[in-house]
Amino acid sequence: MSVIELGLVTSNSDKLAEIASLLPKGYEIVRLDVGEVEETGSTFEENAALKAIAGLRDCAIALGEDSGLEVEALGGAPGVYSKRYGNSDPARIERLLGQLQGVEPRQARFVTVIALARRGGVTELFRGEVQGTISSAPCGRNGFGYDPVFVPDEGDGRSFAQMTRQEKGHISHRGRALAALVQRLRSASDLGSENG
Ligand code: IMP
Repeated sequence: MSVIELGLVTSNSDKLAEIASLLPKGYEIVRLDVGEVEETGSTFEENAALKAIAGLRDCAIALGEDSGLEVEALGGAPGVYSKRYGNSDPARIERLLGQLQGVEPRQARFVTVIALARRGGVTELFRGEVQGTISSAPCGRNGFGYDPVFVPDEGDGRSFAQMTRQEKGHISHRGRALAALVQRLRSASDLGSENG
C-alpha cells in the first residue's frame, strides 16, 4: 500500500504529534520547516492558508493549521491571538483565569482550520470546533496549551489535559478538522497522484 505524504507547516511539535497520532493508515505527516510564517491574518482561515502556501515550496500537498480558543465572555478572545496571549502555556492560562475571575457563564470553544494547498494555491479549508467551559483551575498534565482548563461539553467532566491523546482527538477541534480532511483525501483520487 502506498503512503500519501502530507507536509504540515508548523513549529508546534504538540500539534504535529496529535495529528500524526490521529491519521489513519496510508497517510504520513511530515513537518515542513519553512521558517516562521507570520500570522498576519485576522481569521483562522487566513492564517492557515498563509502557512499552507508557504509549505508548497517543499511539498506537492501542503497543509497549514491554525487554531485557538474563543471564550464567549471575552467576546471571542483570545481567538487567533491564542498563542500570543502569553509567553508560555502557564502564563497564558494564568492570564485567562485572571480575566475570568468571578465570571459566569464560562462557555468557550476551540477552533482548528486546516488549509490544503496544492497546484500553487489553497484549494480547500477544513474547520473543526469543540464546545466546552473554562474551569476555575488547571487540571491534568496531558496535551498542551489551554488543555488543562478546557472541559469539553461532550466529555465526562475531565479536562482535555486529563484525557489520552486518542480520547481528546475523538471529540477535539483538531480531530474533527482532520477527519474532514481525510474524508476529502479518500474521495479524491487526484490528490494521491500528486504526492512527491
Ligand atoms: P497557532 O495555531 O500556532 O497560532 O497556536 C494556537 C494556540 O492556541 C496554541 O499555541 C495553544 O495555545 C492554543 N491551542 C490550539 N489548539 C489547542 C489545543 O488543542 N489545546 C490547547 N491549546 C490549543
